[in-house]
Amino acid sequence: MKIKNFLLFSILLSFVLVACINAAIIFFMYNTLEKVNINALLLFSGILFILLSIILNSGINNYINYRIDKIYNQVNSLKKRRISRINVNADEFDFLARDILKYSYKKKREISKLNYRENYRRDFLGNVAHELKTPLFTVQGYLLTLIEGAAENREIREKYLKRANLAIERLSEIVSDLDLITKLETNGLKLKMDTFNILKVIQKVFDLLEMQAKKKNIKLTLDKFYDIPEFVLADETKMEQVLINLVMNSIKYGKVGGTTIVSVDYEDEDKLIVKVTDNGEGVAEADVPRLFERFYRVDKSRSRDQGGSGLGLAIVKHIIEAHEQTIDVTSTVGQGSTFYFTLEKA
Ligand SMILES: Nc1ncnc2c1ncn2[C@@H]1O[C@H](COP(=O)(O)OP(=O)(O)OP(=O)(O)O)[C@@H](O)[C@H]1O
Ligand SMILES: [Mg+2]
Repeated sequence: MKIKNFLLFSILLSFVLVACINAAIIFFMYNTLEKVNINALLLFSGILFILLSIILNSGINNYINYRIDKIYNQVNSLKKRRISRINVNADEFDFLARDILKYSYKKKREISKLNYRENYRRDFLGNVAHELKTPLFTVQGYLLTLIEGAAENREIREKYLKRANLAIERLSEIVSDLDLITKLETNGLKLKMDTFNILKVIQKVFDLLEMQAKKKNIKLTLDKFYDIPEFVLADETKMEQVLINLVMNSIKYGKVGGTTIVSVDYEDEDKLIVKVTDNGEGVAEADVPRLFERFYRVDKSRSRDQGGSGLGLAIVKHIIEAHEQTIDVTSTVGQGSTFYFTLEKA
């Protein structure tokens, strides 16, 4: 049963109390009762009943208000709302229960967010250490071999020094990627917005990566002949970086003799959509949502052979988001992938 109002409870209690007092009076004064004015007794009972009802009701209200206030004060981020000081009823308890439930949900969410961050931080540190270890140990290995006597032989000396140098280059690449990504995350990215022809940038990236593509006999092309320029408003250097990363990936994870096709279409009135499509190894559905995470690689051993640290797409996503644009991917294992992002039309 839901007691809607504590007034009812006070009235009932007063009634019981008055009845008890009357019963006591009748019991103890039975012999002299005839002498007692029955009307006076009724009047006395009536007044007592009203007084008791008022006192009990206000006492209960004050007590409950006091308790509710205390709960709200103790749970300091719980905002007190809608509790009427005049008349407490069951609704107030509903509000309180609801507020506490909301509060506990909020806290649960905060805790799971903190747990997620903690795991992320642990993974991140582990990944950084792992990434740095490989080239570092390579350099150390070559240097030790040289110290132990291999330096005497000129040919070996040159070969080992060159290899050590490559590993150092790899180390500095990782560190500068990490540096860039940390800067992006802490200060946000400062963009130098400009109007330029995106087709020109695509062609520049093709020229830049031509040698790498040739090694795997991969053809880099546009999807069609564009007879007019496609002007966009963006940071040109950063867009070049985005395209280098995407086209480089399409070569790294593309198949020998494959193709990389870049297209530029109209997304809507204010936006263009740039797509980079390859017919390479593709990515399994389960891995797709994680591709843009820092250090995430589908095939850890293969990607490392290719010299990847899994930071490329994380950087790409940062750059695109700094432009308030979006990037996404569709992919099928064995058939290839399409990475596509939007750009503001100029
Ligand atoms: N075009 C693609 N086809 C198939 N898999 C891809 C493609 N692009 C990216 N991937 C997968 O996504 C992972 C993450 O890519 P990302 O560019 O972030 O890192 P990376 O290429 O391994 O290293 P980095 O770019 O830092 O040198 C890759 O390791 C690869 O497994
Ligand atoms: Mg990459």
